[in-house]
Amino acid sequence: MSSSLTSSVGEPVGLGPSSKENAKEATNNSDNNTPPVEGAPAPHVPIDPFDEDDVVLWTSDDATKRVVYRTAGEIDVYALENLAQAVGWPKRPVDKVEQALKHSFLVAALHLETIDESGAPIEEESELIGLARATSDHVFNATIWDVLVDPKWQGNGFGTALVERTVNTLHRRDIANISLFADAKAITFYERLGFKGDLEGVKGLFFYPTYR
Ligand SMILES: CC(C)(COP(=O)(O)OP(=O)(O)OC[C@H]1O[C@@H](n2cnc3c(N)ncnc32)[C@H](O)[C@@H]1OP(=O)(O)O)[C@@H](O)C(=O)NCCC(=O)NCCS
Repeated sequence: MSSSLTSSVGEPVGLGPSSKENAKEATNNSDNNTPPVEGAPAPHVPIDPFDEDDVVLWTSDDATKRVVYRTAGEIDVYALENLAQAVGWPKRPVDKVEQALKHSFLVAALHLETIDESGAPIEEESELIGLARATSDHVFNATIWDVLVDPKWQGNGFGTALVERTVNTLHRRDIANISLFADAKAITFYERLGFKGDLEGVKGLFFYPTYR
């Protein structure tokens, strides 16, 4: 199954060479890891530094579903915590997660939307399938947290698109220094996106209190 890729203004865009290389059919998943839309390809929509924050990353062939990258609007904190559980993160108090979102500089979400006959999204059927957020001093530095993609949608390029666009959004807000803490398993994923550990000998240090 193929699907069309569209720009933020809904015009079709071509797949770049790298996206062709990366595009893959998502047919090798187990039952509990089957994409809801079979064969959703890597959603490589070229990044325009002046992109609007709402970008349609993927549209199904019949144009009834689409995945949108969005940096504004409410996040259903329960949906987020369900996603967090689905990727195996420990349970967090919902009120704290709510505060963390509220005080983040940027919350970037991937929503799976169902489109009605007029082409408008049906709000009640919007589903959170990915999220990244960043804290910041609003001027120089930002740190990205809570990067996750619904396991049903993993392996199709959405995580890459999410992080690339989050970085792009931060750059457009004039934040130059972007950092994150990577799980050991995710280091390669981030390195491929341009993140480096131990840059010129710089190390992140963590405070571990020593009690005597
Ligand atoms: C990490 C994560 C966001 C990637 O999302 P995704 O949609 O699967 O990412 P992509 O499809 O863009 O994957 C791009 C590549 O990175 C690889 N990759 C994905 N997750 C990876 C991981 N945890 N470690 C190493 N490589 C990973 C993919 O295999 C893919 O490589 P390929 O193109 O050679 O097959 C997703 O796996 C996830 O939500 N994991 C659980 C939460 C998590 O670990 N978050 C990061 C915490 S620091």
